Amino acid sequence: MKASIGIIGTGWVGTSVAFSTLLAGHAGELWLHDLRADVAEGEAMDLADGAAFYPRCAVSAVPLARMREADIVVLAAGRNGRPDESRLDLLRDNARAAAGFGRALAGFGGIVIVVTNPVDVLTRVVAEAGGLPVERVIGTGTLLDSARLRERLAVRLGLSTQSVHAQVVGEHGDSSVPLWSSARVGGMALRDWAGWQPGDEAALGLQVRRAAYEVIRRKGATNHAIGLVTAELIGCIVNDEHRLLPVSRVQAGACGIHGVALSLPALVGAGGALQVVAPTLDAAERDALAASAAVLGAAFGSLAG
Ligand code: 2OP
Repeated sequence: MKASIGIIGTGWVGTSVAFSTLLAGHAGELWLHDLRADVAEGEAMDLADGAAFYPRCAVSAVPLARMREADIVVLAAGRNGRPDESRLDLLRDNARAAAGFGRALAGFGGIVIVVTNPVDVLTRVVAEAGGLPVERVIGTGTLLDSARLRERLAVRLGLSTQSVHAQVVGEHGDSSVPLWSSARVGGMALRDWAGWQPGDEAALGLQVRRAAYEVIRRKGATNHAIGLVTAELIGCIVNDEHRLLPVSRVQAGACGIHGVALSLPALVGAGGALQVVAPTLDAAERDALAASAAVLGAAFGSLAG
């Protein structure tokens, strides 16, 4: 099934989401919107010029109001971080625009995917501003951190990422929580893998947490991996795949978390992130997740100030 996908924000991230989505063939129509209308139009024209190299899709720049007709709207508008900034440092600059886009989508019947940082807090901002059902406002959250963790584990173990099953939950940010206790290599617990050292967990966890900073320090932003991750999420929705993915949404009680948007494994399909499946956590992971929820709750609360 081909969908109508709208992308708000045609900067580094929005255009990477567009490019990855086109190559994946998920969209029959791809609509771009940016406050800089000429930029959106130029990006649409540039992408359309490559039509011979991706599955058929009509790419165009549209007014914001047209987004309400999409099946999925991706919010990628906002300032990206500087090397010395955390994602939460972007909150003041990006929250106002996110709330405005949320209000513009009030009553929207499709799925909203939030990418703009701080993605967890803005997922909640968009859902509340638009009065949208929480299962239909999905933040990319730690889907990207989980991909980074699997890639680094695969390199460390000399295996394909397809054979490494590990995920990160909580904040897509400095308080993220790698779930080492449930990480598996094929059918074996990672912690039983010969040669795996407890120090590896701290080292790889830091690498994952620092990954974006190291990229931003060199090139000014991250975009390719988040573009691929977002296209994967779009495909899971468009094809109603019912996959368990660590995505961000306003939580409704899983792991004792209420009202805060953060990533936990959720069943993702055409209806959105419908059901959260609380992962098994050890004591350290439970504490770290609670701390992450507290950080995000405080960040959201600071908006009222
Ligand atoms: C990333 O993790 C900056 O959130 C963005 O790549």
